[in-house]
Amino acid sequence: MSARLRYDGVAMTLHWAMAAAILGLLASGFVMIGLKPGSAQQFQMYQTHKSVGITVLALTLLRLGWRLAHRPPSLPDTMPAWEQAVAHAGHWALYGLMLAMPLAGWAVVSTSPYNIATVLYGLLPLPHLPLPRDLNGAAKLAHLIGAWLMVATLLGHVGAALRHHLLLKDEVMARMLPRFRRDS
Ligand code: HEM
Repeated sequence: MSARLRYDGVAMTLHWAMAAAILGLLASGFVMIGLKPGSAQQFQMYQTHKSVGITVLALTLLRLGWRLAHRPPSLPDTMPAWEQAVAHAGHWALYGLMLAMPLAGWAVVSTSPYNIATVLYGLLPLPHLPLPRDLNGAAKLAHLIGAWLMVATLLGHVGAALRHHLLLKDEVMARMLPRFRRDS
């Protein structure tokens, strides 16, 4: 496959690093809310979750900038127009969620009645957003609904990629995979 048919190295690195971070955030989020309230383990897990979540926010801004400045390879002509439209809508939904989820999480901690400080990776204090306390319930609900929307969108995204790779046997998924062999 020629280079113009593939995503570039920056897009691929951001894609796979963020995929790993987001899967970790979804798993840690659902686990940590079930831990003993006030325990050291819960505190530590929240701090790690918040640190990685804010990193995802920063990487999303970087990724959006890169995406707008670098045209991605186009989808194959063999794909019907409606399928291409669904694929594009799915990608933009993921960008939206990658921005909205960290912002909603940040709003949760900023409006929390416990007023717990966030120190990213134990090094960098994160200020609270200037939001009224009574938004806490809405922020928590937005973060929870966003998490399930993200799970649903990711299942569609991964399912579509696997369909292209295993059933249609086209190059759509390979364009986002690093090339390990010179001749591949
Ligand atoms: C892509 C980014 C993120 C994802 C996918 C994510 C995912 C999740 C999930 C699945 C949960 C459990 C469900 C829930 O109660 O909402 C959760 C909870 C939570 N997250 Fe996130 N999160 C992200 C970013 C952040 C950020 C940036 C912060 C804070 C700076 C944060 C703070 C929290 C807090 C405080 C909770 C507990 C909410 C509660 O007690 O009800 N999250 N997150």
